Amino acid sequence: MVAASTAGEPRPLGGQGTRRSRQVQSRVLILMVCAAGIGGTFQYGYNLTIINAPTASIQVFVNETWLERTGHPLGSRTVTLIWSFIVSLFPLGGLMGALLAGPMAIKLGRRKSLLLNNLFVVLAALLVGFSQMAKSFEMILLSRFLAGINAGVGMSIQPMYLGESAPKQLRGGVALTSASFTALGLVLGQVAGLREILGAEESWPLLLASNVVPGLIQLVLLPWAPESPRYLLMDQGNEESCLLALRKLRGHGDVSVEMKELLAEQAAIRGKTPAAPWALLWNPAVRWQLLSIVVLSSAMQLCGNDSMYSYASYIFEEAGIPVDKIQYYIIGTGSCELATALTCNLLVDRAGRRVLIIGGYSLMAVWAIVFTVALSLRDQLSWMPYLCMGCLFAYILSFGIGPAGVTGVIPTEIFDQVTRPAAYMISGSLLWTNLFLVGTAFPFIVDGLGHYCYLPFLAVCIGTAAYVGFSFLRRRGRAFWKSQKSSTNGTSIPGSMRAWLRLLKS
Ligand SMILES: *[C@@H]1O[C@H](CO)[C@@H](O)[C@H](O)[C@H]1NC(C)=O
Repeated sequence: MVAASTAGEPRPLGGQGTRRSRQVQSRVLILMVCAAGIGGTFQYGYNLTIINAPTASIQVFVNETWLERTGHPLGSRTVTLIWSFIVSLFPLGGLMGALLAGPMAIKLGRRKSLLLNNLFVVLAALLVGFSQMAKSFEMILLSRFLAGINAGVGMSIQPMYLGESAPKQLRGGVALTSASFTALGLVLGQVAGLREILGAEESWPLLLASNVVPGLIQLVLLPWAPESPRYLLMDQGNEESCLLALRKLRGHGDVSVEMKELLAEQAAIRGKTPAAPWALLWNPAVRWQLLSIVVLSSAMQLCGNDSMYSYASYIFEEAGIPVDKIQYYIIGTGSCELATALTCNLLVDRAGRRVLIIGGYSLMAVWAIVFTVALSLRDQLSWMPYLCMGCLFAYILSFGIGPAGVTGVIPTEIFDQVTRPAAYMISGSLLWTNLFLVGTAFPFIVDGLGHYCYLPFLAVCIGTAAYVGFSFLRRRGRAFWKSQKSSTNGTSIPGSMRAWLRLLKS
């Protein structure tokens, strides 16, 4: 009811039943947000962290199966290489999924694509679950690749599906839920990896196969949510089912205003096709925006925050934390990100994107420096390991408060309807490619640079903060960074977060 009219316009009052219909609306929308999130960014976070606990067991397993097959044991460098492949095939699959997602979403629709997407994770779980029995570490490799495709498809379709289905004033708030689902996935993955739960040496096949559970939850929840009304109208031209979906989402209130807007938009975009990613590259009008997207999306992975989760115990060991305690501290890292994902929503209202990004990366640079110093003094002073750990926590907190939440919404804000899908495709591919690069390099960076392992990430943080700072000095850049509240079609975050809270309270 309320959602059907835009703020400021006189809204048709529905008389009795308004409150009830609002409740139905919020229930369907919350169900939709949860169902899409659990198969999208939740899977991303979960798969990043579950691989951390069984590091040693999988390395032993690889060595043993090789010894059994060929009669020769493997060198430690080869084992590290295979293991880092096991970690990195996940982002490689994610890249594939991100590319698959576009055509899938157009052919099958948003909801059906998400449902079908769970086939990948079921296959992945079966493969890894039986890999030990089959004495084949290749099955782990394949399983990680399939789990990556699942996360890649889910993460790309999730914002599309939710953005198209949420009422205008909630779009920004809904977009921010994806960072919270990532963080929730990270933490639950770490909890599942506890020795007391699924992290015991023998139970790694079960732990790695447990990513089928969120997939099954999505299979149960998602059929109750309607297909995106926008998709039904714009891509399928089906006015009737669009109206039905809209009614279901808006709680059977009056949807005529929104329907009229949708029809007007359908008429307006007729004949315009979305720009291809390569068309964006040669378009001087969007060069500045494109460069910003490339820098910010790359920096988000190249700063090492997400890769760290897969190698957390590695770093904690390097820092000199007692081995039997590491697993509990690791849960602290995920909890930091979860806490900040929730507070970032509130901060964005006050501070604005530029401050959050420059401030976030600058703070991260400071922590990286302190971490490096503390690590090199580790053997002199007994409390240094804990200072190292504190720096890692602070690094994650700084990342979560600024870059993590803000980077994802920027493509929505600086591109228009025609160029946005291409911008998302570019930033999605960059995310997975860079996660792959950093993920593969990480153990070698830790091995090779030792105490100085965070210096490459320090360089990335300083570079990004400097880029955003300098872009502010240029005319066009300043216009964007200053316009915190102006945004295209109601995706601005201030206000929408408040609307979201209002809805939850209703
Ligand atoms: C592989 O197993 C052999 C025999 O058990 C052992 O000597 C060797 O150190 C192991 N290699 C690695 C890298 O763990």
